[in-house]
Amino acid sequence: LPKQDLQGKNILVTAGPTVEAIDPVRFLSNRSSGKMGYAIAEAAQARGAKVTLVSGPTHLKTPTGVKLISTTSAISMYEAVLEHFSQQDIVIKAAAVGDYRPENPSAVKIKKQEGNLSINLVRNPDILLELGKKKEHQILVGFAAETNNLLEYAKGKLEKKNADLMVANDVSQEGAGFGTDTNTVHIIDRQGKEIKIERASKLEVAHKILDKTLELK
Ligand code: C5P
Repeated sequence: LPKQDLQGKNILVTAGPTVEAIDPVRFLSNRSSGKMGYAIAEAAQARGAKVTLVSGPTHLKTPTGVKLISTTSAISMYEAVLEHFSQQDIVIKAAAVGDYRPENPSAVKIKKQEGNLSINLVRNPDILLELGKKKEHQILVGFAAETNNLLEYAKGKLEKKNADLMVANDVSQEGAGFGTDTNTVHIIDRQGKEIKIERASKLEVAHKILDKTLELK
C-alpha cells in the first residue's frame, strides 16, 4: 500500500475531452485520451484521498473507489465541477476543455445542401479561470499543453487563472501529451519555481504532481 498522505482529503480531477453537439449525430471535440487525468485520480485514491473524477467521454476504466461524474459539453463539465467545488481541498484540471461550441446546435440532422456550410462558434466558459475567482482554501492545479514557448505561456496561464500550480506539457515531444502512456512535464509554482519531471509513465508523473501539491499546504 502506498503512503496514505492524502487521507481525509477531497480531490476533484477533470479529465478527457469535451464534446459539443453540432446536430444530433455530429460533434466538435479534441484528441484528449483522458489518460493523464485518470492516472491522477488513481494515484490520489491509492494515497487515501476521496476522489471525484469529472470526465468527458473516454475509453478508460474508472479506477476502483473513484466517484465518476460523466460529462459531455464544456458547460456540463463546468456545472459538475462547480457543484462539487466547495467541498474540495484540491482541484486538478487535466481535461482538455474546448474553447468554442456551435452557437445553435440543430435539433434535427443538418441536410447536405448546395455549396459550403458555416457553423458559428461561440466561446465556452473557462472553468479554471472561474474557479480561480471563486477559490477560498482550495489548491488549484492547471495544465498547459503547448508546442512552443512552453514555460512562458504556462506562467502566464498560472497568473491569469489564479492557479497554485501549472503542469506544463510539451506536446510536440515524442512520448508526451495526448494519447501517450508517458509524459514529460514541468511543474511551475506561484514563485515561478519550476521542476522538470523527465519522461515517465503518466502514473509516476501523477504521483509527482500530488507530491508537489502537498508541499504547498
Ligand atoms: O486551454 P488552456 O491552455 O487555457 O488550458 C489551461 C488550463 O485551463 C487547463 O487546466 C484546462 O483544463 C483549463 N481550461 C478550462 N476551461 C477552458 C479552457 C481551459 O478549465 N475553457
